[in-house]
Amino acid sequence: MDSSNAPFLPEYFEFLRFQSISTDPAYAPQVNACADWLVSKFQRMGLSAQVCPTGGHPVVIARNEPKPGRRTVLIYGHYDVQPVDPVEEWTTPPFEPRLENGVVFARGATDNKGQILAHILGVEKTLREKGELPVNLIFLVEGEEESGSQNLAAFLEAHRQELKCDLIAISDTGMISPELPALTYGLRGIFSMEIRLKGAESDLHSGIYGGVAPNPATVLARLLAALHDDAFRVAVPGFYDAVMPLQDWERSGWAQLPVNDDFFKMAIRAHALMGEAGYSALERAWARPTAEVNGIGGGYQGQGDKTVIPREAFAKLSFRLVPDQKPEAVERLVRAFFEKICPPEVQMEITIGHGGDPLLCDPHSCYALAARRALAKAWGTEPALIREGGSIPILHTLRGVLGAEILLLGLALPDCAAHAPNENFPLANFEAGMRLNQLLLEELAKA
Ligand code: BES
Ligand code: ZN
Repeated sequence: MDSSNAPFLPEYFEFLRFQSISTDPAYAPQVNACADWLVSKFQRMGLSAQVCPTGGHPVVIARNEPKPGRRTVLIYGHYDVQPVDPVEEWTTPPFEPRLENGVVFARGATDNKGQILAHILGVEKTLREKGELPVNLIFLVEGEEESGSQNLAAFLEAHRQELKCDLIAISDTGMISPELPALTYGLRGIFSMEIRLKGAESDLHSGIYGGVAPNPATVLARLLAALHDDAFRVAVPGFYDAVMPLQDWERSGWAQLPVNDDFFKMAIRAHALMGEAGYSALERAWARPTAEVNGIGGGYQGQGDKTVIPREAFAKLSFRLVPDQKPEAVERLVRAFFEKICPPEVQMEITIGHGGDPLLCDPHSCYALAARRALAKAWGTEPALIREGGSIPILHTLRGVLGAEILLLGLALPDCAAHAPNENFPLANFEAGMRLNQLLLEELAKA
């Protein structure tokens, strides 16, 4: 497909050029500029739109003129992106979008700028073709998803009346393959934390004090090693108490999908997989909880050797959670676990990071059936029913506060490199996303 003249490309590229990295305060001006750009895009389409302050990065809200008797659909997405490092591994700069063989490369190309813009331009197309939409529509596009949506819950509480809706539609999840779309009915939740251990006041000569001084790096290694047992189950007592077992229909349905352990091996380009015994890779990624070390530090990290006992050591940990685990409960269990096994010779500090509940939806509800019809028409084939391992921390709260059902209709491909160098999104998916938006609103209006 030669799509270099696709009519939506200039706006897509404009959107991608904003360096809207939410986790790093240095980028706040770019995050704000990106929100302003969205507002003017919505206004040019004839929607009423505004930038709403939240205490963190702003939320953009846009809507058509509501009419009585029509269903209200809220489309959620995020305009913030993940950091770009390691930047030297990008073929071209992350915020200078590039089109190659029908695929756009840039940070945010898939997650989530490409996917949310496909919805926005789908709406624009319907408005151009028909003069109006089949539903009352609200866009809520936030700027803090990639840093945990810390300020959005309070905003939702304060605006629950204006944001009242029947349904929440989201494209921020994945497809099985370019040929096989999916309705995602479950996402994992998350709890993240940093653990820091302190020994002596300063770094010490390991010859003079080795065998005498507490070594926080050694102790940290022992604590982290204790997180898993030999079957690679999380060894924190009580961790699995609230875990819902996989249902038979899920196990058998997922076993039919063209995603086996070899597929994962190829996807991650590793010679072996690792994880909890007794489950397939797919089951582990979608429906089992984990404990992961995301980063580890302390002591000498430079070239060559340095005979030193570090004064401190730290690790960044995250736990992916499944229904019905709660981040607050997992925090208590993990804290108690480390407090119990950490020797008194080192001081331990724990700092809490992200928290988000896992999500489970009904893929058989009448709205879910409508979404499945829209997916089937947009892609020409019936969607798979899947759960996924990633998290969209605010969704559980969004559903609770607005009292609406969630539909996750992902456009991301397994090799989209979200969060990684050379993130990419095919124009074919962008176009399918626009089509999906048009079909979805029609189907939901009649459902
Ligand atoms: N789009 C992802 C979530 C996702 C990834 C859903 C893969 C399904 C499959 C989202 O933008 C994301 O990356 N969320 C973060 C949240 C975290 C920073 C609190 C995640 O899952 O790491
Ligand atoms: Zn993401």
